[in-house]
Amino acid sequence: MSQSDKKRRAAERALEYIEPGAILGVGTGSTVNHLIDALPDIAPRLSAVVASSRATEARLRARGLEVSELEQTGDLDLYIDGADEANKHFHLIKGGGGALTREKILAAAARRFVCIIDDSKWVATLGSFPLPVEVIPMAADFVSRQFVRARGRPVLREDYRTDNGNCVIDVHDLRITNPLEMEQRFNQLPGVVTVGIFAQRPADVIVMATDNEIREMNRV
Ligand code: 5RP
Repeated sequence: MSQSDKKRRAAERALEYIEPGAILGVGTGSTVNHLIDALPDIAPRLSAVVASSRATEARLRARGLEVSELEQTGDLDLYIDGADEANKHFHLIKGGGGALTREKILAAAARRFVCIIDDSKWVATLGSFPLPVEVIPMAADFVSRQFVRARGRPVLREDYRTDNGNCVIDVHDLRITNPLEMEQRFNQLPGVVTVGIFAQRPADVIVMATDNEIREMNRV
């Protein structure tokens, strides 16, 4: 089965987590795009939909969904998003699509966070995927030097700005053996807006599509 088919199957299974009247947060990326494509069928059952990026907002609107702001809705009942990597503690790397800051806000504001992945994203140790870090532009060099000290290999995303007008540095070669501690430590670097480790607010549920099945795992 292709990776795209697995992403679609995980996304479609996640529809079952949406309860009637829910305020739903929608993540960003190719996996979530499959979810968005299926949302019009259940839109009448939703109280509100909040987007984690301009790209997601545009796709939702193109499919006829109304998009609300988090300031209007208050906390979310459910947030559904993909990930670049996930481990058995439901810690994640996110931000491959550059939407990590808004994604982290929506995840924090959600009572339940369902993460949808294909099995290529399931890892023993986070860090094979370069860690995205959103950085205030004037601090990009400074923050890069701090990651070199942490034995990472920072690469600035060329000609790229986030929805918040910031840069993204992708840090290669990090072994994220202690996600909770590293999230906190990297987040404290002056100039860092958000680090793409999601450990302080991990996923609650991981829906993972493999060649043969869809595994639904709950964090205990
Ligand atoms: C965007 C993200 C995405 O969830 C992550 O990059 C996974 O993307 P895809 O579903 O395209 O594999 O964090 O910022």
